[in-house]
Amino acid sequence: MPVITNIDDLKAIYRRRVPKMFYDYCESGSWTEQTFRDNTDDFQKIRLRQRVAMDMAGRSLKTRMIGEDVSMPVALAPVGLTGMQSADGEIKAARAAEKAGVPFTLSTMSICSIEDVAEATTRPFWFQVYTLKDDDFMRRLFDRARAAGCSAVVITVDLQVLGQRHKDLKNGLSAPPKLTAKSIANMMTKVGWGLEMLGTRRRSFGNIVGHARGVSDPSSLSSWTAEAFDPSLDWNRIAEFRKMWGGKVILKGIIDPEDAKQALNVGADAIVVSNHGGRQLDGALSSIRALPAVMDAVGDKIEVHLDSGIRSGQDVLKAVAMGARGTYVGRSYVYGLGAMGEAGVTRALEVIRKELDVSMALCGQRDITRVGRDILLVPKGFEGDWA
Ligand code: GLV
Repeated sequence: MPVITNIDDLKAIYRRRVPKMFYDYCESGSWTEQTFRDNTDDFQKIRLRQRVAMDMAGRSLKTRMIGEDVSMPVALAPVGLTGMQSADGEIKAARAAEKAGVPFTLSTMSICSIEDVAEATTRPFWFQVYTLKDDDFMRRLFDRARAAGCSAVVITVDLQVLGQRHKDLKNGLSAPPKLTAKSIANMMTKVGWGLEMLGTRRRSFGNIVGHARGVSDPSSLSSWTAEAFDPSLDWNRIAEFRKMWGGKVILKGIIDPEDAKQALNVGADAIVVSNHGGRQLDGALSSIRALPAVMDAVGDKIEVHLDSGIRSGQDVLKAVAMGARGTYVGRSYVYGLGAMGEAGVTRALEVIRKELDVSMALCGQRDITRVGRDILLVPKGFEGDWA
């Protein structure tokens, strides 16, 4: 086993182990992938201010996200089809998150169900909600999340319609994978993955297949989004869903300050500055670039989180220094999961924790809750001078 020192090491193993269809699903952005690329590239443009001869003993990464104690400002993002990256992937990732003391967010489009994850963990997890047209289904979904002890729902507001990811269409993405000559040929080269997958009964969308109806191909993410998701979702509807749930709500997918203000109006507990990992509107601003304007608009009134583009502890540090209370990693943990199952997710979180801790120290800081904008060197015009 090679020595794993960074997230890219996990990605290289992941790529070899997992069928192309699922690797591509994870590693795609929409259309030209401009926003997908910008998400990571823009983090690289920001520099950290090195300080020396400052007391770096007794450091702490502990903070709180929506009032919950977290061992570092990092949560696992909701990722669809995680149980296709590794058998029972959501259970493995949730367990690793629990051991690491960070929140796990289960996607509506997961393979393991809410109940499966609840049974396998003790720490309350967060449940990400896609808003389907069927209100009865939505009510039951919230009931199930409540019964499972979920401590918050994360309502995704940037995917009423699906941004096109070319590779998913070309690969015929589905869960379980459809058996074509091409997919079989590729899966035959992924023996470890295949054997594990044969050992689980969880191979379709566990939260919705058998619970929601009216979809022509229940194994297809694009059929679900096109046929069952509610394209008319608006702020009133979001307010209704907040009432239906009755607990803490995080709104994910805010890039524009005007939308951030709307999120505040509907009484969200937190927002996530996110462009869905560059998977929705290609051409949207990267989330780290969008963060300062959102902070200016609502940062003193609501907790702001950030996802999209985080591949290291340095990225987490930059987002926190710019004002985010917490961050989410999606691909960074999926690489670990696909590479080594639960141990890989643990490794990904360890890598990020260490990078965050040491980088914070080298910036002369000891407490993540006190880290501010002054540790950053942000190029002039970073936010863009758009007309
Ligand atoms: C959502 O489920 C996605 O594929 O981005």
